[in-house]
Amino acid sequence: MIKKKGHLIRIDTANTTLVIRADTAEYLYYGRKISSAGDFSVCEGASPRRLLSRPQRADYGEPNLILCNADGGFTYDFTFSRARIAAEKNEIPGLPSSYGEGKTLELKYVDLPTKVCLYIYYTVYDDSDAIAVSSKIVNGSKKEIRLRRLMSLQMDLPGTDYKIVTFEGSWARERRKTVRELESGVFSTDSKRGMSSHQSNPFVMAENERGVYAFNLVYSGNHKEIFECDRPGGKTRFLTGINDYMFDWALAPSEEFCAPEAVMCFAPDEDSLSARMHAFVSEHIVRGKWKKRERPVLFNNWEGTYFDFNEEKILSIAAAAKRAGAELFVLDDGWFGRRDSDTCSLGDWYDNVEKTGGGLKNLADKIRAMGLSFGIWVEPEMISEDSDLYRSHPNFAMKIPGRTPERMRHQLMLNMADERVQNYVVRTISDVIARSGAEYVKWDFNRSMTDCYGKGIAPGEYFHRYMLGYYRVVSRIVKKFPFVLFEGCAGGGGRLDLGNLCYFPQYWTSDDTDARERVSIQEGTSYGYPQTVMGAHVSACPNHQTGNTNPLSARFNVACGGVLGYELDPTKLSESELSEISGQIAFYKEYRKVLQFGDQYRLYGKNVVGFITVSKDKSTAVAVVNLMERRPCDPVPTVRFKGLNPSAAYEVSACGKTQVAGGDLLMYGDIPLEGLADSKVADANSGCIMSRMYIIKKVKNG
Ligand code: DGJ
Repeated sequence: MIKKKGHLIRIDTANTTLVIRADTAEYLYYGRKISSAGDFSVCEGASPRRLLSRPQRADYGEPNLILCNADGGFTYDFTFSRARIAAEKNEIPGLPSSYGEGKTLELKYVDLPTKVCLYIYYTVYDDSDAIAVSSKIVNGSKKEIRLRRLMSLQMDLPGTDYKIVTFEGSWARERRKTVRELESGVFSTDSKRGMSSHQSNPFVMAENERGVYAFNLVYSGNHKEIFECDRPGGKTRFLTGINDYMFDWALAPSEEFCAPEAVMCFAPDEDSLSARMHAFVSEHIVRGKWKKRERPVLFNNWEGTYFDFNEEKILSIAAAAKRAGAELFVLDDGWFGRRDSDTCSLGDWYDNVEKTGGGLKNLADKIRAMGLSFGIWVEPEMISEDSDLYRSHPNFAMKIPGRTPERMRHQLMLNMADERVQNYVVRTISDVIARSGAEYVKWDFNRSMTDCYGKGIAPGEYFHRYMLGYYRVVSRIVKKFPFVLFEGCAGGGGRLDLGNLCYFPQYWTSDDTDARERVSIQEGTSYGYPQTVMGAHVSACPNHQTGNTNPLSARFNVACGGVLGYELDPTKLSESELSEISGQIAFYKEYRKVLQFGDQYRLYGKNVVGFITVSKDKSTAVAVVNLMERRPCDPVPTVRFKGLNPSAAYEVSACGKTQVAGGDLLMYGDIPLEGLADSKVADANSGCIMSRMYIIKKVKNG
């Protein structure tokens, strides 16, 4: 709800309130919901907490905008022009953004000497505590202006006593929660890789005794988050948006530039913050036919075969997958061109007839005849130098004339900023989907960007023009195949961000499939993203990334924290392992609705990390607890469950034992994880976690 009274604008969500003073461009309040109907003037008088910067006007903080203005200088000074409340959401041309029923506040400011306008939009949805914010510059002057930075959101937070939480990592170590005390000065986190990156996800939080502020960006390219601790001013400036690294955008008279949408949310604690972000992502980011549909249990051949397969091998995996109860078989990398290794053929999206036994359609039909859906892997934005595409169209590749390009995984990237390249990708990838009849597509992206160059494109515009081209392509393809389930992937979770989730209802969380590693990766991811978007696979042991051996049951338990898949060669498993997998899949299907669409909370105890997923009506829950480390003479580990109805009674089953307890006791008592540390497997394998699953069912209403 948005209410305007004079210059004061109040935005209420179910649990939070944001108050803006439009004429002075200040935030007066953001936090817990305020019920009083006062005029908020009691909040005025502190050092101004701005929603836009005034560099050269004694605002010496990091600016939301760096502009080489029409008068040739860097100075601007925006004067309030108008505030409008619209029933429809502002459009952000060419970029993905949130959607749904709600209201949008548009604030317009004008730099009077030059007539350059800055618009800031705040969208609030009826059912969400997150607020979407975006910014736009319109060049109302008669001369070209140059944007060196336009952040999507500026939020000056009250106080300087924040702990900053970021989600950092690398390939196979995505989104590890990292906590820092904010010190005087600037702390920033960013990506310069042309992708949101494995290294620093755009989702960040700032916490103090007041609660948790969280921010994210609906964008998949270079991003930057800045926290500036201003002790004398008693405030902390936060900025998020496109990274200004190598950014320099020319705007001719009357042209506009739209920054991607940012999202902000406040909650009193981390659990409720995650619940609010999960609800926002599930309702207002993820879209299409698969939004609320239960996701199929898949078998993927990547770790089972890598590039070394033929029709017979694939069919034998698919047959075993079907016997185990899988619903979808995904043919990963290696089915096209002469792709027997990662050195060639990207861009040649035609069937390798030998490896597919006569072509994709033939293979896909045989798999469908077994009663499985068929899924296919593609990496549309890439090109191998050893490919027919490169030989015929070398200038489709992103590389700088006269320089040797940087190769990663032996591959170059396509110049997606070029319309001819975009059309080529749309045509060839659409053809792969159409001719195979694929019901699922895994869209991979296996390198960071270097050698940014496109003929006729200003270097300072390249990164963002690439993203606009990428979004144009992915949106056209997704629109053409509305029934296909698209899963995003970027060497694992290197582009798991809100921009991509607008197209891909699920994302491959990480290439690290080790259960121990996955506990932390999924835990970190869960702060800002719901489990429905996290692809989670059971793979073979010893694990291919770490060499650890975890019991099949532990690998399954951990994978139940996301959308379940298997990524191994089932023909190499024993009968007893296969029958264990059949049991797992049958169990997963029985509890799938809860596991995929219930409310998920993180669980912690001493050396214990896990999760509980609770059905919306709080009648059923599945909890997984993992003891990450065992020390001699440690006390019996304990855990407290979350999300249950405190006044209901529940039957709790684990390890063949069933007990009845109240929801309150299960949440506020310390439940001993008796015997968990005694596992024999732990003695044999140091990389092993000790994992247990609890099924919790309501037996009596509260
Ligand atoms: C990286 C992905 O994350 C893997 O799952 C697999 O698809 C490979 N690429 C294939 O090259």
